[in-house]
Amino acid sequence: MSLKKTSPHRIRVFESANDLYHALLDHLEQQIHTVLKKPKNPTIALATGNTMIPLYRMITDYQDRLHVDQWNCFNLDEYYPITDANATLSFYAYMNTHFYSRVQKPVKLKRILNGRTEDPATECLEFEKQIQEVGGLDIAILGLGQNGHIGFNEPGSDPDSRTRLVTLQEDTLMANFKGIPPFTQAMTMGIDSILESRHIIVIALGKSKAAAVHSAIKETVTRRVPASFLQDH
Ligand code: GLP
Repeated sequence: MSLKKTSPHRIRVFESANDLYHALLDHLEQQIHTVLKKPKNPTIALATGNTMIPLYRMITDYQDRLHVDQWNCFNLDEYYPITDANATLSFYAYMNTHFYSRVQKPVKLKRILNGRTEDPATECLEFEKQIQEVGGLDIAILGLGQNGHIGFNEPGSDPDSRTRLVTLQEDTLMANFKGIPPFTQAMTMGIDSILESRHIIVIALGKSKAAAVHSAIKETVTRRVPASFLQDH
């Protein structure tokens, strides 16, 4: 149980999803303005999943206010391997549907790990290099897996992990797909890569996330709950 460093500003509980998304939008706006004042293009790690869909809608509704055209966007993860047959289930497709197709002025930089690569190790290195080239991550917006994963850093992930190819666990595949899963692997930013972000926001909604939230916040930092590593951030 280590909540010592936890101020009320660090963990916020909302009565409704709507309240959460509105507060989040305001918070994100403040953070973006702080980065722009440096002056710097905000470099942002973006997540996928159902939790993020209303957020992308709101961000794109207020894209001028949030200066979305100034953003360097790096997605946290992508399934592997992507083929023509499964491409509609890729995070590339998700991002186009929920975010990029709604953006009017293109973002400064759009980077999603290439799930079609034949050389994932090189792709992951290149991805990390590009983040460094634009000055590192300013803000990471994360969801939470029911098993406590962040990005696709599954339970057991090394806190020193960098962007890499990983094997997805059964519970994640069951949560993300109905029936036979079209993927068993993914490329993901590592725990260490995520922790390098200057500011990190995690959003979790609903009963299915309650146990993961509880473990991430209240348990001692443990590899069993990758989100618990955020306590040290
Ligand atoms: C996927 C992503 C995670 C995301 C999680 C939660 O597994 N790799 O980054 O946090 O989904 O998804 P949902 O919001 O649908 O519960």
